[in-house]
Amino acid sequence: MSKQDTHFFNIFSVVIGLLVAVALVLLALARNIGDNTQVTETYADKAYLKGADERTQPLVRVAVAGQDNSALVIKGLAQTTQIKLEIPKDGPALYEAVCKTCHATGLAGAPKTGDKTVWAPRLAQGKATLYEHAIKGYTGKSGAMPAKGGRTDLSDELIQAGVDYLIAQVK
Ligand code: HEC
Repeated sequence: MSKQDTHFFNIFSVVIGLLVAVALVLLALARNIGDNTQVTETYADKAYLKGADERTQPLVRVAVAGQDNSALVIKGLAQTTQIKLEIPKDGPALYEAVCKTCHATGLAGAPKTGDKTVWAPRLAQGKATLYEHAIKGYTGKSGAMPAKGGRTDLSDELIQAGVDYLIAQVK
């Protein structure tokens, strides 16, 4: 290697070294400025904190039998998945909304609405038994009548009104 080349390499190394040093200084400076401005602002940002809170909620919560587990309720989820079923106002409305599904066609062995032959022996049991079977559910020879037709959220009185309506259809 000629003397000139050696000289060039020496200068070149120094220049590269200086550039690296400047880059490191800029990097440190940028981080320092960021820490004092952006980061503090981010951590004070309500939307950011709320989002982080939501994302870090546990996916699974274990309820322990015999303990108060109300704190485990996943609120956002409960709100969106809770379906509010309409409450029918009287017997006929209840029939339309709930009982009809099975009793109009005799689905799943349900005694068909208005069919005297299938209802006669049932009516013979007396109203009280029919009320009880409709409210508490009943499994007989032809199938299973679910408690309150599956609408256990409804009052006993309303179910009785539904039974009255069913009985009134038998002619
Ligand atoms: C999922 C289908 C289904 C729905 C919905 C349903 N029932 Fe029934 N119901 C049945 C079946 C099946 C039986 C017959 C059970 C048996 O005797 O084997 C029955 C029987 C009955 C009986 C006669 C019980 C007896 O002792 O003979 C009454 C009364 C009755 N249902 C009332 C109602 C009323 C009121 C509603 C609406 C609130 C309703 N059902 C909704 C399936 C249903």
